[in-house]
Amino acid sequence: MPDLYRSLLRPLLFRLDPERAHHWTLAGLRTASLLGLDALLAPGAPDTPVEVMGLRFPNRLGLAAGLDKSAACIAGFGAMGFGHVEVGTITPRPQPGNPKPRLFRLRERGAVINRMGFNNPGIEAALDNVARSRRGFCGVLGINIGKNKDTPNERAVDDYLTGLQRAYPAADYIAVNVSSPNTAGLRDLQDPTAAGNLLRRLKAEQGGLAEQTGKRVPLAVKIAPDMDDHQIAELAALFGEIGMDGVIATNTTVARHAVSGLRHADEAGGLSGAPLEARATEVIAALRSALDPRVPIIGVGGISDAAGARAALAAGADLVQIYTGFIYRGPTLVREILRALA
Ligand SMILES: Cc1cc2nc3c(=O)[nH]c(=O)nc-3n(C[C@H](O)[C@H](O)[C@H](O)COP(=O)(O)O)c2cc1C
Repeated sequence: MPDLYRSLLRPLLFRLDPERAHHWTLAGLRTASLLGLDALLAPGAPDTPVEVMGLRFPNRLGLAAGLDKSAACIAGFGAMGFGHVEVGTITPRPQPGNPKPRLFRLRERGAVINRMGFNNPGIEAALDNVARSRRGFCGVLGINIGKNKDTPNERAVDDYLTGLQRAYPAADYIAVNVSSPNTAGLRDLQDPTAAGNLLRRLKAEQGGLAEQTGKRVPLAVKIAPDMDDHQIAELAALFGEIGMDGVIATNTTVARHAVSGLRHADEAGGLSGAPLEARATEVIAALRSALDPRVPIIGVGGISDAAGARAALAAGADLVQIYTGFIYRGPTLVREILRALA
């Protein structure tokens, strides 16, 4: 099948400002989904189900958080072949995010820098979207939660508790994002004391909600790549002790050495895509060797071909996710990875 994304769609999208391209891609997918045309995007790979975090995933590939921030296109991404879709990050109250421009392509390296800052419609509107847009979706739905920009870290736990309580009935798993570089101070919540306080509260709440609802929704935590092996090992020990159900590694990086000298390289924000791959794979490997073997890892960062997905799995990931690779390669990348892993 000809690669229509590469020959037709990407040249059009890349002529647009990146955020506008993002908007039109989601609008197009939503329309295709409503018209039933998204079936044309089916990857043509057999299901290869796996059980991770006690959930049955149709395959090992997922869509990383941040692309379907407001949960508008879940079934469309599912039709494309993604076995799981992580929506969000969603905060309790709606917020506009940082001023534009806040998204930049570094085309020479298949990379992106973003400082979106959790632009999202807030948890109530997002849950309305989930109810609408997951119809027909047979995969696993992750809801990624964060804190509002104007909530100080001392009260961050309240925002995460709100997100957890509200998202719990709708989610298959919940991801706790403490690793975006674009909300001032958020990464301080990865400090072991702060992370311990936050995650213990959330685990206790998860226990209560499981009792109330009769449904157990696993709780994963998403970490940054900008930590040394000692910090990773310390967090891994903490996650094991608390009984986290999964770890998602990694978010975007604030490091720039892999892209220095390129246009946009000095924009503030998080770098993702191919230049992140080596570091993300190292973090997965470091985590795997330090983490309780029962705690699964969702590997993400720079995967842009089947070899990248295989490398993340070989380093110790149980599932993989993509975002920036998808911007550059579209549904072809989904098909390529699913066929390689089938
Ligand atoms: C534009 C953009 C927005 C993102 N927004 C979020 C977000 O809201 N929450 C989150 O946990 N990660 C977010 N991410 C990080 C991705 O989920 C992923 O961890 C990171 O981009 C590395 O994967 P990749 O190299 O495949 O893109 C975002 C990434 C990009 C490029």
